[in-house]
Amino acid sequence: MSRWLDVLRSVVGKGPFPYQLWFLLEFPGRRFVHPPDQLAERLRLFAASRVLEVGSGSGFFSPALAGRIPEGKLVLLDLSAEFLARARSKLSKLGFRNFACAVGNACTLPFRDNTFDAAMMVTILGETTDRQSSVFEICRVLRPGGILSVTELRLDPHFVSLNELDLLVSFTSFERIEVCGSALNYTATFRKRPDESPQTSQGAFGLAGRARLSTSVTVS
Ligand SMILES: C[S@@+](CC[C@H](N)C(=O)[O-])C[C@H]1O[C@@H](n2cnc3c(N)ncnc32)[C@H](O)[C@@H]1O
Repeated sequence: MSRWLDVLRSVVGKGPFPYQLWFLLEFPGRRFVHPPDQLAERLRLFAASRVLEVGSGSGFFSPALAGRIPEGKLVLLDLSAEFLARARSKLSKLGFRNFACAVGNACTLPFRDNTFDAAMMVTILGETTDRQSSVFEICRVLRPGGILSVTELRLDPHFVSLNELDLLVSFTSFERIEVCGSALNYTATFRKRPDESPQTSQGAFGLAGRARLSTSVTVS
């Protein structure tokens, strides 16, 4: 019963996307709205890139990312262990070994500063309980010069407008380098300015942030 309440909450824009609706993320026609290769292209990856897919869901985009980084590593992070299990199974069946899965919250990422070269968020930012913290955290775990790509779909009840995204990002050391899209959706790409010390949420959270980092995960 409570599972169906989660579905209802999500439909009206409250709470994370429920696992029971995974098939909507895998709908074949979605390739025309969000072509995985095109979205992966926007991350400007190289063979050894370390990539964080935030709110990966069932891994609709993960094979396109993993395939571009044969010497690198893809980390899938999601609140839902069920979604991650599905994504892991998909990537394994396709023969990928260059990935890891982490159950976690985008608002308090369990990674050290400067861990990743690129991060991707597709229709997830609006689901987080604290959008500003999510953006701070991604900025913190990206290396200087690292790329963040955010894709939003207007039909999504959790849609985040480009204006709101720009405002969230304005408090970090990200600079916007590209916006692509259509009437239905957009992808905004940001680069973490190389010339500034990492912007961290520790500044806002003080000791709590530092304590959290002591339990962080290293991606090798
Ligand atoms: C609409 S789905 C999108 C999944 C995937 N990005 C895609 O486009 O196929 C949103 C995903 O974000 C996850 N999510 C929501 N809030 C989150 C958070 N605070 N931290 C990590 N994952 C979160 C949900 O569990 C769900 O898998």
